[in-house]
Amino acid sequence: MPKSTAPTARAAKLRQLLNRAAHAYYVLDTPVMEDAVYDLLYQELLELETVTPALISVDSPTQRVGRQASEGFRRAEHRISMLSLNNVFDLEELQGWYEKLLRLLGRQADDLELVGELKVDGNALALSYERGVLVRGATRGDGSCGEDITDNVRTIATVPLRLHLDNPPDWIEVRGEAFIPNAAFAAINAERKRQNQTALANPRNACAGTLRQLDSKVVAERHLDFFAYTLHVPWEMSGRLQLAEQWQSLQQLEKLGFHVSPDRCLSANLDAIRDFYNYWQEQRKFLTYPTDGVVIKLNDLRCQEKAGFTQRFPRWAVALKYPAEEAPSQLLRLQVQVGRTGAVTPVAEFKPVALSGTSVSRATLHNADRLEELELHIGDTIIVRKAGEIIPEVVRVLEYLRPAGTSRASLPKHCPECASLLIREPGKAVTRCINNSCPAILRRAIQHWGSKKALDIAGLGSNLIEQLVDCGLVFSISDLYRLDRNSLISLDRMGAKSAVNLIAKLQASRAQPWHRQLYGLGIRHLGSVNARALAKAFSTFNNLVTVACLDPKAVTTIQGVGPEIAQSLHRWFTVPANSRLIADLHSLGLLVTKDDNEIGDFTEATAILSGKTFVLTGTLPTLSRARATELIENAGGQVTKDVSRRTNYLIVGNNAGSRLSKAQSLGTIILDEDGLRQLLAL
Ligand code: IVH
Repeated sequence: MPKSTAPTARAAKLRQLLNRAAHAYYVLDTPVMEDAVYDLLYQELLELETVTPALISVDSPTQRVGRQASEGFRRAEHRISMLSLNNVFDLEELQGWYEKLLRLLGRQADDLELVGELKVDGNALALSYERGVLVRGATRGDGSCGEDITDNVRTIATVPLRLHLDNPPDWIEVRGEAFIPNAAFAAINAERKRQNQTALANPRNACAGTLRQLDSKVVAERHLDFFAYTLHVPWEMSGRLQLAEQWQSLQQLEKLGFHVSPDRCLSANLDAIRDFYNYWQEQRKFLTYPTDGVVIKLNDLRCQEKAGFTQRFPRWAVALKYPAEEAPSQLLRLQVQVGRTGAVTPVAEFKPVALSGTSVSRATLHNADRLEELELHIGDTIIVRKAGEIIPEVVRVLEYLRPAGTSRASLPKHCPECASLLIREPGKAVTRCINNSCPAILRRAIQHWGSKKALDIAGLGSNLIEQLVDCGLVFSISDLYRLDRNSLISLDRMGAKSAVNLIAKLQASRAQPWHRQLYGLGIRHLGSVNARALAKAFSTFNNLVTVACLDPKAVTTIQGVGPEIAQSLHRWFTVPANSRLIADLHSLGLLVTKDDNEIGDFTEATAILSGKTFVLTGTLPTLSRARATELIENAGGQVTKDVSRRTNYLIVGNNAGSRLSKAQSLGTIILDEDGLRQLLAL
């Protein structure tokens, strides 16, 4: 975060920011700062105060004991302390926790049964039932005393007002997590957007704010849900309800009428827990409720009792958190990347942060519109996101942390590589450098030509390409084939042997089938699968050029090739500079057909999905159902309507239906559109 050079001033600023944020969170119920940012600033203040204790003041949030209770709700003393869980952050730490438990309980082998539950990202509630009737719903508060929010709890449709139990005992206490289901959270934010209000940052804060609403009608409108996970009963009841294990408690809670997360596992030791954790790390994006990790508990309740508690946490349970997907960082500079089609992409460079298990320091800002929308200033505190495979992106900017005197980041007017004026067509999001000999475009074009799915030229790495272009050895793809040993060895880190190897690889690449060369030209929208389809349909490259130029519609008769591709081919082939490139490549023996076997790897490649059965559900972000079906079938796969044991893959989009739960229960592999594209090598 932006730091002032004077520690005294910085500490004062941090105190002010943190106190304001805490007031907004606890008293006003309107969080103004993300938890991760609060933690980061708090940590910074703590460090300043540790180094210079004289900076500690009575109003420092580090000196606050407990939390300020909001007025408006009655206090609710907890009959049994409501503790939180200790966290571990990877499987190795989890192993350490388990081994400690084995030692504590005097076990030799790893034979302590565990229950794995998903860690629902909401707010803990304690529900008290007297003679089977809900009499109180309370928040955790400081663990010994929370707030009585019974009226609000009653609005949660899945909390039974009367337990499904004959002869209920005097009291029963059920604990669990109240949460806002993902769909309800999205609807709340859509409505807020419609009313020009800022979006709620995350479902947990939104849930906490909702639970502490003084008007329970508002709570009812938010459609909260509740998953029960702990059952406390008088000891004489445990026999009757057969409560010797956590697993049985969960089953009993279902019988009592509660909603219990169906996503749980019973494991003889850590093995199945590891699988459970790994499985949900990928699949949790398809869940209808928010999760941030898994909770692992000893199954045997007597063992739980023996293991007991530390000052703050149970020893018999632990939370294994999934790596953060969002984190704050500080914007250092705005970089501009020029792609092989000349498209200019603004890229944010920021202080490295750990996200989804990797260190991230760059994120795309997509285009000029997005840059405008974010109103980024250099030095801004930004929230960066990286969910699983998804490329990192800047989600939002924390304007209230903006240092004074900073300048707004915007796209340059000229290409940073060749200084040509950048062009943005009216109505288009993309800004482009349209200078065909721009070194940035050329570098990318060469990189694409040598890539695995194109000419597959090992050794043609980005460093070498940069040198080849910068030293003026290569002005086009075809120049690659004119490189000689002497000019190559003049380059940095290029010995005679590597030079000879590279030339050999380049020459060998001329024998690659022409569909690979076609793909290697980097024509927009033309992926490798469609390049193969075209090569199968046209006997020679020149045939394709003739048809694409004279009758682009005819190209669309080829399965998988739509008007977008046909138009793109037409446009590319009719640019004079590209015709010159083709002629040059022809003269070097490229893009010519020697015999029909040239497309020999076609059959093998298209058979990638042969024998595989797919089901599609929901709306995919970019592919229509018909198009996805066509792509799968082109690659040898089969698309059926319903999920069965024979289904190999379920492809899931937005608003997936019951097919998703069926696939989950059958253990079918579930992929999103990106996953499908990877399968199809698109
Ligand atoms: S057990 C004494 N089980 O996560 C232990 N907690 O970070 C009681 N949470 O305070 C908690 N899902 O609010 C438990 N399946 C689950 C949970 C869960 C979410 C919350 C709970 C807890 C916090 C700890």
